[in-house]
Amino acid sequence: MAFNISLLQCCILVLACLLCAHSSQALEGNNRYNAWHMVDVKSLLPSSDCSSALERNFNGMTITHRHGPCTPGPRKYKTTDAQILRQDQDRVDSMHRYVNSAKKDTIGELLSVSLPAQHGISYGTGNYVVKIGMGTPRKDFSVVFDTGSDLSWIQCKPCNACYNQTDPLFDPTLSSTYSNVPCSSTDCTLLDSSSCSNGRCQYEVRYGDNSQTDGVFARDTLTLPPTDTLSNFMFGCGTNNDGLFGETDGLIGLGRDRVSLISQASSKYGAMFSYCLPSSSNNTGYLSIGTNSVSRASFTSMVRKSDTPSFYYINLTALKIGGKLLNISPTVFSAGTVIDSGTVITRLPPTAYAQLRDTFRQYMKRYPKAPSLSILDTCYNFTKYPRVKIPAISFVFSDGTTLDVDFTGLLYVSQVSQACLAFAGNRRDSSIGIIGNTQQKKKNVIYDIANQKIGFSPGRCK
Ligand SMILES: *[C@@H]1O[C@H](CO)[C@@H](O)[C@H](O)[C@H]1NC(C)=O
Ligand SMILES: *[C@@H]1O[C@H](CO)[C@@H](O)[C@H](O)[C@H]1NC(C)=O
Ligand SMILES: *[C@@H]1O[C@H](CO)[C@@H](O)[C@H](O)[C@H]1NC(C)=O
Ligand SMILES: *[C@@H]1O[C@H](CO)[C@@H](O)[C@H](O)[C@H]1NC(C)=O
Repeated sequence: MAFNISLLQCCILVLACLLCAHSSQALEGNNRYNAWHMVDVKSLLPSSDCSSALERNFNGMTITHRHGPCTPGPRKYKTTDAQILRQDQDRVDSMHRYVNSAKKDTIGELLSVSLPAQHGISYGTGNYVVKIGMGTPRKDFSVVFDTGSDLSWIQCKPCNACYNQTDPLFDPTLSSTYSNVPCSSTDCTLLDSSSCSNGRCQYEVRYGDNSQTDGVFARDTLTLPPTDTLSNFMFGCGTNNDGLFGETDGLIGLGRDRVSLISQASSKYGAMFSYCLPSSSNNTGYLSIGTNSVSRASFTSMVRKSDTPSFYYINLTALKIGGKLLNISPTVFSAGTVIDSGTVITRLPPTAYAQLRDTFRQYMKRYPKAPSLSILDTCYNFTKYPRVKIPAISFVFSDGTTLDVDFTGLLYVSQVSQACLAFAGNRRDSSIGIIGNTQQKKKNVIYDIANQKIGFSPGRCK
């Protein structure tokens, strides 16, 4: 009798498992692993309305997409997908040059003159914007946030050269808490590229795409909405700024090294931050500085590379598609992989990308092909299909942790007739891989610097 009951229980369990596996296949958005995604094609398209669909009681700053309808201020520049992808390649190229020049430096060769390996170096654009406050009384600014660089800066009066920005320029003379960092201060030595003018420490950042900012290295009270403040925050007050910054007012550096926001905030808020990048440019996400709830997250170790201390490396060793591991030797990934908020499209070693792409094409055989879009070489024309079936893709790290890419992070869709696999290959296996922001969408990505690990959990953004 006891045997019968347990057999019955067993059957019920098996049935329940089958049922729930079945429903997870049909329901997007829950956390069970799906080998496939059934996707409503319309849901992949960018829209022209901003629907701020954040869950209430999230704790942090609102993230908007720079080129989307939620971005603050007027959008004078219409950026095309081809331009966004071109700028993305510029960023990746300069990250690769930075890594190479840093490597050469450690074996005693000359650094490339055009690309000093300095703190605060950044790589063009970056696509996500947050609002911060600076000074007393506080003024609000929209800035790009970037996990790939350290120094934060905003455009300041008196401007020798400023580009047009969203908000009025920051005027240091109107802030009672503002001070310049003197050349004699040890803080000035935190900058790799500094100079002295009238006793004031000057910073300079040159970007991979020849844009640049320089000005006074300063301190003032930083407000991180809604209510957190950081007094004596060190930042660049930029009086010569030129380049591809669009209309944002500056940049917040969330890199791993000294002078970054997170280095400066760690004693007050803990060495941790997290964000959720929205699935489309018509939604908003959040950026939260400091320790927050990390339940249900799975973590992988941060790897430190002393020659490029600003970057967050994680140990990617395998890829899964359609629920199956690809047959790629882990040594293919040995150049290292950076997780980055500013790169749009994930870059893989070409050996790994070729496998991923070929398998993806196999799975997608039934759909008509479309022309390549810039760096994206695997595109489909979904015009005739209201729904499409796309294989799931996951990153697998050396400690077994996996990051299952949300279905909104698999394709880069500029129009229904051209939906492209949102991954690309580097030129060489010896270049670092980058996990780009498209593949991080809708995840709560946790940078736990104190414990040297990066975590992923379901994000509370749409
Ligand atoms: C954009 O927002 C609208 C509501 O304003 C929503 O219906 C639509 O699905 C959203 N588009 C995407 C791609 O998320
Ligand atoms: C910046 O704004 C001013 C005033 O609105 C305008 O005259 C000027 O053309 C703009 N410059 C650029 C480069 O857009
Ligand atoms: C996409 O498919 C539709 C319907 O089959 C066709 O009319 C259209 O020309 C195709 N577009 C491209 C860019 O191939
Ligand atoms: C990264 O993964 C490789 C391959 O599994 C392993 O040999 C190496 O020790 C790992 N490195 C770190 C820092 O975890």
